[in-house]
Amino acid sequence: MKTTHRFFIEDSKKSDRIPSKSIDLVVTSPPYPMIKMWDDLFSEQDPKIRKAMDGRDGLLSFELMNQMLDRVWDEVYRILKFGGCACINIGDAVRTINDNFMLYPNHARVLDSMLSKGFTPLPAIIWRKQTNAPNKFMGSGTLPAGAYVTLEHEYILIFRKGEKRSFDSETKKTGRRNSAIFWEERNNWFSDVWMDLKGTVQKLNDKKARKRSAAFPFEVPYRLISIFSVKGDTVFDPFFGIGTTMLAAAAAGRNSIGFEIDENVGETINSRMKTAVEFSNSRIHERLENHIEFIKNRLETGKAIKHTNQHYGFPVITKQERELLLNQLISIEKTGDRSFEVDYSDDPQYEFIRDSSTPPAVRDQKPDKKRDPAKKSLQKQVQLTLL
Ligand SMILES: C[S@@+](CC[C@H](N)C(=O)[O-])C[C@H]1O[C@@H](n2cnc3c(N)ncnc32)[C@H](O)[C@@H]1O
Repeated sequence: MKTTHRFFIEDSKKSDRIPSKSIDLVVTSPPYPMIKMWDDLFSEQDPKIRKAMDGRDGLLSFELMNQMLDRVWDEVYRILKFGGCACINIGDAVRTINDNFMLYPNHARVLDSMLSKGFTPLPAIIWRKQTNAPNKFMGSGTLPAGAYVTLEHEYILIFRKGEKRSFDSETKKTGRRNSAIFWEERNNWFSDVWMDLKGTVQKLNDKKARKRSAAFPFEVPYRLISIFSVKGDTVFDPFFGIGTTMLAAAAAGRNSIGFEIDENVGETINSRMKTAVEFSNSRIHERLENHIEFIKNRLETGKAIKHTNQHYGFPVITKQERELLLNQLISIEKTGDRSFEVDYSDDPQYEFIRDSSTPPAVRDQKPDKKRDPAKKSLQKQVQLTLL
């Protein structure tokens, strides 16, 4: 299996080079309107925004900045295939303008915009980014009534274009089963509140670039891509930043395309891609090890497990996980200034054979396609898993 990854230093309001209905999933995080660090970027793209900010008109600035994003959401609708999803990580802003402290509800404005474009909204995720910053309490402190609730969450808004995606051919069905996630991961990843992910502070390599990248943690696009697409799909990020969506797509065996307006990000993206094989494989190892640990705990509580994964030979909770395979990365080749090709192994044991620290439960077991898990005793399963 191979995937390709490309990014363009272009304005995503004009994504003409991407054909209509060609993208399976959009995962992105735009610059948040009314957050100070993005004022210049918005103003440079629309002089009316500069004028509104200079005139200290907060609500007009908020609306104009969102109108700029609306043009990208139009493109997102155009390029998505029917049945494809768009996941938008967006935070609200709080700001005092003309002595008036208020919330600028970006998530509501984006939701409204996406509805007007014809997207179907799906349940959203609240990403709780708890902070211990000493200035997190705003307003009048312990004195009523002028204090403000602390803003410690962002949203991951999720939309679908048109009807649910169908997997009608046998090849598509196999690809889907192969892309399954573990049952216990589903219970966590499909929660509507994510509390286990901290924001990242990523320095940019290039001196000309912004000091902070505003990148989301790898785990955000990795989960979204794993949940809302299958291997071989193409993921698009119109606000590419330093390419976290590309890293996550590569780790998950999906293709990716990104648009970024800031030409200074290239160096950082290249150096991130250089470590992507090792980084992705270590996340894959972690998922497998977590699964083995989960199964071990479950078996210890005396609960029977009916199914076996045909690639790894370890027990899985549902029939849907029987063909699950996390393809490890073999190599990443730079195929152009801003493009990469990733080669994957279909061998479930690929890296584990080389890594002697990996639990023997995975390393030593040969996949046995003919094994009938239903007939195996619980004791035998424990032995197989925990050898
Ligand atoms: C919040 S950051 C995205 C960070 C990204 N998720 C990551 O992990 O690196 C938003 C990015 O959108 C870019 N941007 C803003 N307006 C744009 C436009 N019209 N077209 C393309 N990129 C744009 C900014 O330069 C910034 O890098």
